[in-house]
Amino acid sequence: MIKDLIIAAIALLANGYKTIAITCKQWGDTGKGKFVDLFAQYWATIIVRATGGNNAGHTLWHKGKKFVFHILPSGILYDKEGKINVIAHGTVIYPKILMDELKILEKNGFSYDNLKIALNAKLILPWHILLDRAKESRAGKDKVGSTGNGITPAYVDHIGRNGLIVNDLLNPSLLKAKLERNWKQTYKMLVDYDQDLIRNIMVMEILENGLFYDDESIFNIDAVTAMYIHYGILLKSLICDTDTFIKEKVGKENILLEGAQGDLLSIESGAAPHVTSSPCELNGLATGAGIHQGQVDLSLGIIKGFIMTRVGKGPFPTEYGGSYSEEWCNSGEHTKKTELKISDPGVNYPEGFLKGIALRRRADEYGATTGRPRRVGRLDLPLLRAALRNGSRDIILTKLDVLDEMKEIEICTHYIYTGSNYQYGERLLQNGDTIQEAIMHTTVLENSEPEYVYFPGWLRPLKDCSSYEELPKELKDILEFIITSTGIRPKIISIGPKPEETIFCPEINRLRL
Ligand code: IMP
Repeated sequence: MIKDLIIAAIALLANGYKTIAITCKQWGDTGKGKFVDLFAQYWATIIVRATGGNNAGHTLWHKGKKFVFHILPSGILYDKEGKINVIAHGTVIYPKILMDELKILEKNGFSYDNLKIALNAKLILPWHILLDRAKESRAGKDKVGSTGNGITPAYVDHIGRNGLIVNDLLNPSLLKAKLERNWKQTYKMLVDYDQDLIRNIMVMEILENGLFYDDESIFNIDAVTAMYIHYGILLKSLICDTDTFIKEKVGKENILLEGAQGDLLSIESGAAPHVTSSPCELNGLATGAGIHQGQVDLSLGIIKGFIMTRVGKGPFPTEYGGSYSEEWCNSGEHTKKTELKISDPGVNYPEGFLKGIALRRRADEYGATTGRPRRVGRLDLPLLRAALRNGSRDIILTKLDVLDEMKEIEICTHYIYTGSNYQYGERLLQNGDTIQEAIMHTTVLENSEPEYVYFPGWLRPLKDCSSYEELPKELKDILEFIITSTGIRPKIISIGPKPEETIFCPEINRLRL
């Protein structure tokens, strides 16, 4: 019954559309998984991952069993329904992780004949991981908070025209020379690193527990070549020209483009250096799939309902607890386990840092694999305005139930610039200036003081609501305010992790159309 209602609501929303994209308009971790899964299950016939690599992570549930995947698209468990899953050319792939995920499928009785891997996706090589980790461990306070998966070095090699692609796995006789040429470049960047540090990284599980390690030259290229030839043999039947495949299906089949990370983390529109190295917004997602933005009929952007989170380092103007929270979350000392030992301060605690902890616990904002606490803050409209430059005004709001007990909800409407004079193109920013749309430069963001409006909370469980009409007036007032001040078009409101805890909102949309 609930399933039928969801199918009907999705069909109504997707009526007349053949290609739908779902991206995150914040720093990732906005609960994209639930919606990608719903659209994959009930609407799409082709599901495409097209940006980033195994720095992303999503949790899928199948018959009560939890699966966490990092590179496989979200439709991968619907093999029996004949859905095609594509890892498209915009991605970077570390074959070991891909193989690990395929083994999980095999072990659980799923087939992956329905998977297509782009021949021109970029390869992550073992030394990309070494370099990523070595750089971070030496960066001190300049750490980016990288996931350590070699994402940036792999994209750097691609842009630097020195990278390898998946198709290289299919030509073993040429592979060693290509690997050697690539390694030569990376080696130069590693020469002055401490040998103990290098050895410690080389024996990690992600680098095959030291299998590639050579005391003198760091990498035994023969061992790496043998492993990558082996991957080529195992993956051969899945590797193909996915650009042509998708091009031929556009407009004919229901295609779901599944975003990774979020607009604010994008190399194109985020504030460097605290970004990932892929274009996470709609445009990058479409290009990475081999099509263009104009071929996407509906682009849904996801934001969290009235809070925001961030993983790793970088400016976060509305963070509860400010820089103390940033340090706390990035110190490596605190995890979900240790935070749960602190007595719950409650979401109405007057002080920011502890209130942030309370919200983190309510929202379960801890890394899925590491338990690392995510930084938590208030919804920031200047950042949302900046993200909306990339399109995707049709919005899904998630996790609203987290705020059920909050007496007062703070929304950041604009910033006051507090830094010294800073020339930003034609604009001279001066202390005291108002900023309506966030300027995506770290120097400016670090000196952007948020100003808030305060709304009364709804103070009742949203789980009791089953339609937009039933949502509390207090919540609708906040939504109306955000709609008016940013131009978003809310389409779906999520009030819990389960599929049935979803409200589709045609009424709101009518107000805007
Ligand atoms: P990288 O992508 O591993 O190089 O990490 C660069 C930055 O992006 C770091 O701050 C990471 O924490 C962040 N990041 C990368 N992937 C994700 C994600 O899927 N969710 C949230 N943050 C991410």
